Amino acid sequence: MCGIVGYIGKKQAAPVLIGALKRLEYRGYDSAGIAVNSGKKINVVKTKGKLNVLAEKIEGGNAVKGTTAIGHTRWATHGKPSDINAHPHTSGSGRIAVVHNGIIENYIELKDFLIKKGYRFISETDTEVIAHLADFYYKGDLLKMTARLTQTLKGSYALEIISQDKPDEIAAVKKDSPLIIGLGDGENFIASDIPAVLPYTRNVYIIEDYEIALIKREGVALYNTELEHINKEVFYVNWNVSAAEKGGYEHFMIKEIMEEPQAILNTVSQMVGQGMMKIDKIPDKINIVACGSSYNVGVAGKYIIEQIAKIPVEVDTASEYRYRDALLTKNTLVVVISQSGETADTLAALRESKRRGAETLSIVNVIGSTIAREADRVLYTLAGPEISVATTKAYSTQLAAVYMLALSLAKAEGKLSPELEKYYGEELFKLPSLINKILEQKDKIKDLASKYFKAKNVFFIGRGIDYALSLEGALKLKEISYIHSEAYPAGELKHGPISLIEDGTLVVALATQEKLFEKTLNNIKEVKSRGAVVLSIVEEENTQIEECSDDVFYLPKTNKMFTSSLAATILQLFAYYVANLNGNDVDQPRNLAKSVTVE
Ligand code: M6R
Repeated sequence: MCGIVGYIGKKQAAPVLIGALKRLEYRGYDSAGIAVNSGKKINVVKTKGKLNVLAEKIEGGNAVKGTTAIGHTRWATHGKPSDINAHPHTSGSGRIAVVHNGIIENYIELKDFLIKKGYRFISETDTEVIAHLADFYYKGDLLKMTARLTQTLKGSYALEIISQDKPDEIAAVKKDSPLIIGLGDGENFIASDIPAVLPYTRNVYIIEDYEIALIKREGVALYNTELEHINKEVFYVNWNVSAAEKGGYEHFMIKEIMEEPQAILNTVSQMVGQGMMKIDKIPDKINIVACGSSYNVGVAGKYIIEQIAKIPVEVDTASEYRYRDALLTKNTLVVVISQSGETADTLAALRESKRRGAETLSIVNVIGSTIAREADRVLYTLAGPEISVATTKAYSTQLAAVYMLALSLAKAEGKLSPELEKYYGEELFKLPSLINKILEQKDKIKDLASKYFKAKNVFFIGRGIDYALSLEGALKLKEISYIHSEAYPAGELKHGPISLIEDGTLVVALATQEKLFEKTLNNIKEVKSRGAVVLSIVEEENTQIEECSDDVFYLPKTNKMFTSSLAATILQLFAYYVANLNGNDVDQPRNLAKSVTVE
């Protein structure tokens, strides 16, 4: 849930780290800090607040000299955001400094042990035990000390450690939290995620659990916990650096929404027209497991897969699934969906499924991420780096991936004739240009947002797959605008929630499914007659909706399964403009982080 970075080279390290942390700020942004080894001592500067508070304090990094350093941007788990709780944490009168992403589960036991050994704790964090334990173990060899840490620490960690007497070394190790090392010429970089190092190098090591790295200017050596040398392939990153920058847009979120047509085209092209995904064993049941927006894609996936492939689908939030001993049939396929590929609950659910013998498939955006590597198969969404905490283009490509999974399953079952495969393929390839049509109308959505941005409560309603989209519309709005919003199946309102409808309550109604249109229309009339203000989203020929709506957004016609992709873009734009008009920090909403690597 935090971002960690490190640099060792010939440049001044602090300005490099500030830039790298900026590109990781999506992982957490309640406090930040750096520790720089000047050659004589370790200077630590850390502060509560976003990275720019730290950057100002150290003049963009120029005020702290040294060419070996580690840095951190935090999303608080243990202890509130404060100067003291910010990383790096130090020990032994400042001779050791540590940054950490993850959670140490046995920190209380370790803290008791270290207090008895005379260590004094000043923060509320779990990480401080690592600093003191590192100091306790350190006998002049960073590598041996790090190996000992791996034997003692329980929980998740990506760690970087420096010692005052080793200005030419950084040690790093990980377990269940991501870590990469960027390989430069006479300089090397460490980070939680690839975008942080992209301005400097495209050659990276993706570090696996319990791999220990000793990073020097001239090279990086990797070891297992027995301190035996290991060889590793260098991963070449072929993304465009600009993909992780704002490119003239006010926010990453709007830039990422505007990238949806290309992202969907990239995702769809890898399979449609290429004979779809090969399915060796047809599942008798599918369990989709994910969190947040990825879970919402799973709910849409249930409708899509059951409709197209006629295979029963269960959908669970990962935090529930991992503990519920879900029933697995002889041939259950567990599909985990994750943008980051690092979400702790989703990863745990994947591991639990594998442990119980299920086949697993992941739909993941971040190439080389843990979930992508650990699932039996991976279907990549080619959305490119997504920086805004609220997911948009990744969600839209996940939906596209689910369409392709459903079509691949149908084909493997012999239920997809060549004519139908061609038809669906053509419809999928039309999606980018249809989404462009929505994007061309973004000012209309902005006008709607300016009419409704003061709403206090918003209901999103729909039936069938429109209900799945309602879930995402409500999540998107609440997470960045802080407006209370709920999604309900349209037919469910009358069983309770309708009592909340009063004069002026905003209801966003999705009625894109022809078969269910009349039914949803009736539900819209029910809320309208109780004073609701209704914004409807329907296909272009359904003009009768105007009688019972205050505003209508018409979608261009496509196959009923794929209208969801068009509706998604509208809901994302609506949430974006509402949040922006409310003056919120759209890309970094309060209390959130992009990658949730804690349970
Ligand atoms: O990286 P993942 O897709 O596994 O992340 C899951 C959720 O944390 C994520 O979708 C979250 O709900 C976003 N803030 C939604 O915009």
